[in-house]
Amino acid sequence: MKTLRVNAGGGYDILIERGLLKNCGKIIKNAVSAKKAAVISDSNVAPLYLETVKNSVNAAGIETVSYTFDAGEKSKTTANLIKIVEFLAESGLTRKDCVIALGGGVCGDMAGFAAAVYLRGIKYIQIPTTLLAQVDSSVGGKTAVDIPQGKNLCGAFWQPAAVIIDPDVLNTLPAHFFSDGMGEVIKYGCIKSAPLFERLENENAADIIDDVILECCDIKRGVVERDEKESGERALLNFGHTCGHSIEKLCNFSSVSHGEAVGIGMVMITRAGENAGITEKGTADKIAALLKKYSLKTEIDLPVSDIVKNMAFDKKRTSNGINLILLKKIGESFIKPSSLDEVNALFGLK
Ligand code: GLY
Repeated sequence: MKTLRVNAGGGYDILIERGLLKNCGKIIKNAVSAKKAAVISDSNVAPLYLETVKNSVNAAGIETVSYTFDAGEKSKTTANLIKIVEFLAESGLTRKDCVIALGGGVCGDMAGFAAAVYLRGIKYIQIPTTLLAQVDSSVGGKTAVDIPQGKNLCGAFWQPAAVIIDPDVLNTLPAHFFSDGMGEVIKYGCIKSAPLFERLENENAADIIDDVILECCDIKRGVVERDEKESGERALLNFGHTCGHSIEKLCNFSSVSHGEAVGIGMVMITRAGENAGITEKGTADKIAALLKKYSLKTEIDLPVSDIVKNMAFDKKRTSNGINLILLKKIGESFIKPSSLDEVNALFGLK
């Protein structure tokens, strides 16, 4: 088993091994002193894995209760959050007990936030079942639900007590979920690791996915340890996301997936960086080629001016503008605080 220790929150391990789901109970027993665990899952994942997880947790001597919500981002609401918190109360969970988030990013975000606010905070375990959740959202303690004004606007930093990653669960994922996660994987190569980027170019990620997950989690571990609450370096993880979120919003979060939008955003900001003489020439083409290799889009039929205008409403904006994430070259990224005029100029707009 591969283990990474994250020194954030109370400190926790990320454990990666094929078949780990069947043995998650022992790990959870070591990580928390719970008598009862509430397994929160969604309508896609629960039929596949809930029984396996419950059986393993029960075998470790922890009683389980479970709650399943309808799969999809549309479920990540304050109303569903309250339903989960009420379920935890009705199930009699105490401060010693724990929540287990079994699912993708939506589940981890919402169950994690429920754990953060129930009894002013109880422990929780992440068992991510999508590539995106395994390489990104399950690590680092960002928890949230959406509100009508925007995605993830209501949430908390609340670190998990363990992250249990079983790459075998990716075998049951529809192909587009794998591509979606590859958007974030490519992002790690762009911002921090030229060797990872090259490996993704030269090999097939699906064949080396255990290594890829480990490498991405290790990069994220380092960033989160150095900047848990995103006052600096952690913002690098938003590379491609400011344009990407704007694109997702313009497409009403329906015709383009998160990974696709981030991919398009990475190419867009990198081309702008090249045109401004900030980024090494040819970098955007390299990123576009790698995105294509993993069946991701590289452009979208929307006016650049609309995408850029919408970026002004990003939740990561500052009082002075936006922190743009740019590349010097593959593997080297930096934060460029920019006024809205500077953002427009970068994209060749007035
Ligand atoms: N997904 C970006 C972060 O965790 O900071």
